[in-house]
Amino acid sequence: MAGSSQQRVKICLVLCLVGIVSAAEYSTSSSSTTSSGSSSNYLLNPLFYVSKCPRALDTIKKLVTNAVLYEPRMGASLLRLHFHDCFVQGCDASVLLKDTATFKGEQGALPNVNSLRGFEVIENIKAELERQCPGVVSCADILTVAARDSVVALGGVGWPLGLGRRDSTTASLSGANSDLPSPFLNFDGLVAAFQKKRFTVNEMVALSGAHTIGSARCLLFRSRIYNATDIDSSYAEELKANCPKQGGDSNLSPIDTTSKNVFDSSYYTNLISKKGLFHSDQQLFSGVSAALQVKTYSSFPLLFKFDFANAMVKMSNLSPLTGNQGQIRNVCSRVN
Ligand code: HEM
Repeated sequence: MAGSSQQRVKICLVLCLVGIVSAAEYSTSSSSTTSSGSSSNYLLNPLFYVSKCPRALDTIKKLVTNAVLYEPRMGASLLRLHFHDCFVQGCDASVLLKDTATFKGEQGALPNVNSLRGFEVIENIKAELERQCPGVVSCADILTVAARDSVVALGGVGWPLGLGRRDSTTASLSGANSDLPSPFLNFDGLVAAFQKKRFTVNEMVALSGAHTIGSARCLLFRSRIYNATDIDSSYAEELKANCPKQGGDSNLSPIDTTSKNVFDSSYYTNLISKKGLFHSDQQLFSGVSAALQVKTYSSFPLLFKFDFANAMVKMSNLSPLTGNQGQIRNVCSRVN
């Protein structure tokens, strides 16, 4: 009895703390942040396209929703594309630039190659917006809005977005290799990767809930299902059927074994039952306060969705190019 009321007090405390952190983030979210954390003076503007391209946001929403209806995994792929854009040079669509004979972009980086998807959905949206309002809507904004609309299409809550990002003329292969977290990281390594972009441990745990949707390749979790001890044994056995010791590197399994196409909090419930797919996922249940946050999100899905939304606002504000910086690309895959 005493134990359970203590537990309730603890959960209550965590809820308050998470609420305060979320509120603090929300109130600063309109100012832009560089990928190394310092603030800049300009603001992105939620009304940026209202007169310049009035149907831009409706068009993105419609095309994203159709793409997700056609293939639910596309919602996950677009969300990840945005993450892999923002965590390198900031949200500047650098990830969309294809390699050329003279230019090596981010798509060949280890975390991206044979892995990132959704480029053609973004390119289709861009083509439609170029027909409506030539030279106005950036690829960086399209990607940012598409990530939000993907989460909504799969059952998450949306978030407000400042707009007016511009597109980079550069990309960073080395940045993509160094700054995107690996699924083999331990808790401290994950904390360091997110700290580098000025995210708190709380925000890291919330953002990791993105793994409630989408799929992953066998080569990224093989060592875990054959060797780890912090994994449910029947879950590991199930996964082995589609991820043999040798071969089948690209065979896919859902990251959230319960509901791969629904943006819910079952990712966290799975971690409690040692059913995290990646080593890095399961690590979130090893830090004391992170584990409490995992339990809280498992019990209060709406709290997870709001914290996720707030952390995504912060991610979307990483180092945008604005004003005269960069350009508005004609097509997203190459500079003008
Ligand atoms: C915490 C550190 C993270 C690590 C180590 C990590 C790692 C990975 C890996 C290895 C994959 C599978 C790639 C493949 O099979 O080729 C993946 C998939 C995915 N990641 Fe993460 N990720 C992390 C955080 C995030 C964040 C912050 C987001 C978004 C906010 C995100 C969204 C996704 C999504 C949606 C998928 C599925 C994509 C699809 O099905 O196409 N991840 N992640």
